[in-house]
Amino acid sequence: MKTYKEYIKEADEKGVAIGHFNISNLEGLHGIYNAAKKLNLPIIIGLSEGEEDFVGIHEGVALVRAIRERDNYPIFLNADHHYSFERVKASIDAGFDSVVIDLVKLPLEENIKITKQCVEYAREVSKKENREILVEAELGFIGTSSVVMDKLPDGVSDATMTTPEDAKYFVDATGVDLLAPSIGNVHGMVKSGNPRLHPERVKAIREATGIPLVLHGGSGSMNEDFVSCIKEGIDIVHINTEIRVAFTKALRKSLADKPEENTPYKYLPASVEAVEAVVEARLKLFNGIQ
Ligand code: G3H
Ligand code: ZN
Repeated sequence: MKTYKEYIKEADEKGVAIGHFNISNLEGLHGIYNAAKKLNLPIIIGLSEGEEDFVGIHEGVALVRAIRERDNYPIFLNADHHYSFERVKASIDAGFDSVVIDLVKLPLEENIKITKQCVEYAREVSKKENREILVEAELGFIGTSSVVMDKLPDGVSDATMTTPEDAKYFVDATGVDLLAPSIGNVHGMVKSGNPRLHPERVKAIREATGIPLVLHGGSGSMNEDFVSCIKEGIDIVHINTEIRVAFTKALRKSLADKPEENTPYKYLPASVEAVEAVVEARLKLFNGIQ
């Protein structure tokens, strides 16, 4: 099997993107994996701090590892949006394959200092344990929550997109493997429609930094925007809200259809299928599959 880094490189060369999908439970993982396996595509499972606390840090590692080892399948686990060195360290120690250190709320120099500390720790463990650990950082505010919103969060606008100059300075100073810039994207879905993405900004940041870029806040973006951003240098796309909405809608329907049903394995399969359908459609789009 190729390594995580090699799969990213392959996606880049092919002009496609690897899907990153967050989970809150085992049902979400089943839905995502079913879709990936059907299409035979590598996949990244994300656990943000809140999701990781709910699933369990070691349980999350064990679940993903169990699938990877049983099926010899390229499924990777990412510690998504971790907000401190301590939380990043705990995820690396538990066995995650990659981490996202998200310090966009801190002043730039402070952000650089702690991000660098995360990179150094990842390199040290990587060497000691002979395993690949990738570090990603976010630059530019794109909101925080994977929820459905009435309006765009304050502080997210085209005027606050990441500049190629800032991106280059940050990447050179920290040595991160992957960068998640602000290019018109926003976490969550705006009821009236998400803003348009800016592929020309992706291109400029990619040229300035020379490292793979990650698109966060994928839910609710237009299909053609995904395609053009992937073409310009996005190698991984994060989707969360769309899965949460599909899961919950199917669960509500299951429970309403059979109010007497108390057996989780009877009312939850509809949610697994709903997640699978969302992930399959997104993976097809990111990989140019009809
Ligand atoms: O890291 C998670 C993603 O960026 C999810 O964003 O909820 O808008 O799909 P989303
Ligand atoms: Zn994100």
